[in-house]
Amino acid sequence: MPLPPGPPGLPLIGDLNMLSEDSGMYIFDVFRRYGNLMTIRFGPSPLVFMRGPKYNRFIFAENAANLLNRAPLEMLEGKMFGDGLLVSDGDEHKQARRMLQPAFHRQHIKTYLDGMVEETHRMIDDWTGEIDVAKMMQRLTLNIVARVLFSMDITAESEALSHAWDGVMNYNVHPWGAVLARIPFSSRRTGMRAVHEVIDRMITEHRANSVDCGDVIAMMLAAKDEDGTIFNDQQIRDHLMILFLAGHETSSNGLTWMLYLLAQYPEWTRKVLDELQSVLGGRDPDIADLDQLVTLDMVIKESMRILPPVVGFTRTAAQPFDMDGYHVPAGTMLLYSIVTTHYLPELYPQPLEFRPERFAPDAERKYSPYEYIPFGGGSRLCLGQPLAMMEMKVVLAILLQKLRLDLVPDQNVKAIFRGSLFPKNGLQVRVQPQDGQVERSAARVYGNVPGAEGRQLGS
Ligand code: HEM
Repeated sequence: MPLPPGPPGLPLIGDLNMLSEDSGMYIFDVFRRYGNLMTIRFGPSPLVFMRGPKYNRFIFAENAANLLNRAPLEMLEGKMFGDGLLVSDGDEHKQARRMLQPAFHRQHIKTYLDGMVEETHRMIDDWTGEIDVAKMMQRLTLNIVARVLFSMDITAESEALSHAWDGVMNYNVHPWGAVLARIPFSSRRTGMRAVHEVIDRMITEHRANSVDCGDVIAMMLAAKDEDGTIFNDQQIRDHLMILFLAGHETSSNGLTWMLYLLAQYPEWTRKVLDELQSVLGGRDPDIADLDQLVTLDMVIKESMRILPPVVGFTRTAAQPFDMDGYHVPAGTMLLYSIVTTHYLPELYPQPLEFRPERFAPDAERKYSPYEYIPFGGGSRLCLGQPLAMMEMKVVLAILLQKLRLDLVPDQNVKAIFRGSLFPKNGLQVRVQPQDGQVERSAARVYGNVPGAEGRQLGS
């Protein structure tokens, strides 16, 4: 039996379209031509793509134990990302997840609120003129992760760090990226060294101060599993690195796309502002307020449907399996596709339209954990989901009450796939005090995102 069908590609190089920055568009096209289970040649290897609830259930539940995270990440990134949670499998993964969980528990993350509020004010209070808000969100989310999870103030270096991180992510999920990850002085590896230095400093400072400040490093230094297992130094470093990395690019993309969509769809900004006025009346949110921000929650959810911060994630089959009359040999790389699942018209009628009402609490249609999957699913469901939801709400609630961000007209707003859905040219906005004149924020822009002129993702 053959692999699922797909375009043939060239020997060794694979499918040249996957090297282009429009690989996202191309993946949508190939799904259209070959159906929900298809194969693209990725460099020398086949990569089986899956889309839709049936396959998401297969990945997250039915065949989860057979699908590994480490192998594809090591294939794509070498050993660059260490052995942290995202990379580990089997019992090692289960145990590490159990030991890290307390730091992300709903009750515990409440203690992160003050840090998020302060970091947001520190970032936005002196904004004026024209700024690249995507860059600013990257710095803000770095500052927030460092502050709330690691009790570190990295404001002074977050600009350099965010630059180093861009080097790491260049050509991520790209055959050329796999080569760069193995060249010691490539931008990917030097960027990673800069991140490592910060992580190592965090651990050293914690050890030197040896206070239990309740953050994730203190918890890891104290964590003991039921059988007495503790984290060794290398494990602590690897887990922290994954948290640092997984915890900022995602929220930063999410926030950038939300600000873009709010600017282009001012009727929703108005609804959110009305809600903020009635719940907060100009003050910062506290924990009890967050559940009342229902419209904001709907906007966040629909933004992550239409422009999900992570486009999909890879696995490798440990054992061969058959599906729909095709055979997938052991060692084959698979990818469950978040973004293309989110555009299936049978799940989301008029999928290209931004419609937060899909997620209204009283909406008739509810989405299953295999239909709406911005945070993945199953035993690998994003550990940071509650933290990320809280962070995005807090940042938006503060920012929108204070500022109106008007899109700079005629810019090219382009979403590219680099594992995350990244705003390639940033997002240029003019900062104004929030005066409620939200219609002024919309502008004619070019690109591949909703509300822009050009061929849109998913079209
Ligand atoms: C909007 C923000 C975020 C999105 C969309 C997101 C998305 C995801 C997705 C799709 C996965 C699943 C990967 C897989 O299938 O293997 C994941 C895993 C993970 N995320 Fe997030 N994430 C976000 C924010 C965060 C934050 C803030 C943190 C922590 C500070 C975090 C930590 C993790 C970790 C540790 C994993 C690995 C879980 C495991 O393998 O058991 N994420 N995330």
